[in-house]
Amino acid sequence: MNLKIGVIKGDGIGPEIVAEAMKVLDKTAEKYGHSIEYIQLLMGGASIDVHGVPLTDETIEEAKKCGAVLMGSIGGDAKNSPWYKLEPSKRPEAGLLKIRKALNLFANLRPAVLYDELKGACPLKEEITEGGFDMLIMRELTGGLYFGERKTVEENGVLTAYDSLTYNENEIRRIAKRGFDIAMKRRKKVTSVDKANVLDSSRLWRKVVEETAAQYPEVTLEHMLVDNCAMQLVKDPKQFDVILTENMFGDILSDEASMVTGSIGMLASASLNETKFGLYEPSGGSAPDIAGQGIANPIATILSAAMMLRYSFDLDREADAIEAAVEKVLKDGWRTGDIMSDGKEKTGTAGMGDLIAANI
Ligand code: IPM
Ligand code: MG
Repeated sequence: MNLKIGVIKGDGIGPEIVAEAMKVLDKTAEKYGHSIEYIQLLMGGASIDVHGVPLTDETIEEAKKCGAVLMGSIGGDAKNSPWYKLEPSKRPEAGLLKIRKALNLFANLRPAVLYDELKGACPLKEEITEGGFDMLIMRELTGGLYFGERKTVEENGVLTAYDSLTYNENEIRRIAKRGFDIAMKRRKKVTSVDKANVLDSSRLWRKVVEETAAQYPEVTLEHMLVDNCAMQLVKDPKQFDVILTENMFGDILSDEASMVTGSIGMLASASLNETKFGLYEPSGGSAPDIAGQGIANPIATILSAAMMLRYSFDLDREADAIEAAVEKVLKDGWRTGDIMSDGKEKTGTAGMGDLIAANI
């Protein structure tokens, strides 16, 4: 099969980690008889430097012609980078929000897994993590506070800022359906997270999620308030299978969930629309402080590429091969600096990519 993959290398460590994912993809394609056509796309700071904006309409059109897009990370050092002297709508992050909306990527899948080999890096007590945990945050990505009307105005001489949180029932239904579909392939439990004790949007969320749940009698549904969920994630992460939540809550909880695994450099993510198309990226950021040093962990990007093969190209066997290669390399004792522990072998970004490619 010929795979047409858009590549957004991005900023900071982005180009380094994407290069390793491409290395592993190339090896996988060679082994299983596929060909890959990469289309380079500019987004974030890299696009600002060339075009003056974080994402052009032409780039969106190019992305639409691809089967999927693999992305590194975007953004830079907010204190010193000239990108952050621009107004918010012209900064690197605006490119990410624009591509999500333009490609209708409403379903953001963020797995948070405690890897057996990396248990030592988990900041939680051993009695809490005994047996491991494996949850998936299903975050709504094109609605809510991120895309509601906003303005800053002077009212009676007082500066006042508005951000509105809006969801309609159709937006809630389609993400809920995705959440239940994925729960059916996992441990069949959905925890829907909201703030229904305060927000109207959450009360509608809860109602629509309950209606959707009626079509999935095998799945256990529970509701949880977002503040309680933040607490439960550190108190008892094992209780979660699929966490289904709106955009802003999902943003915050997914950072927390990734941190309790102790290995954010390991976590992949996918943003999907109604078709097979998806944008795949590591859960971590662009880490400008370590950019260009060849020490960033490329595994999250490599695992994102595996997710891409599975969800956008239906290449399950190939995705399995990449995931197995990652596990093998970890089992053999290889680590990048961020997941290093006593008695293990340290390697860099390219070294880790080489090892994983060699194990495909
Ligand atoms: C994320 C990021 C983005 C978000 C930022 C960069 C706009 O934090 O993907 O979680 O808030 O969605
Ligand atoms: Mg975030």
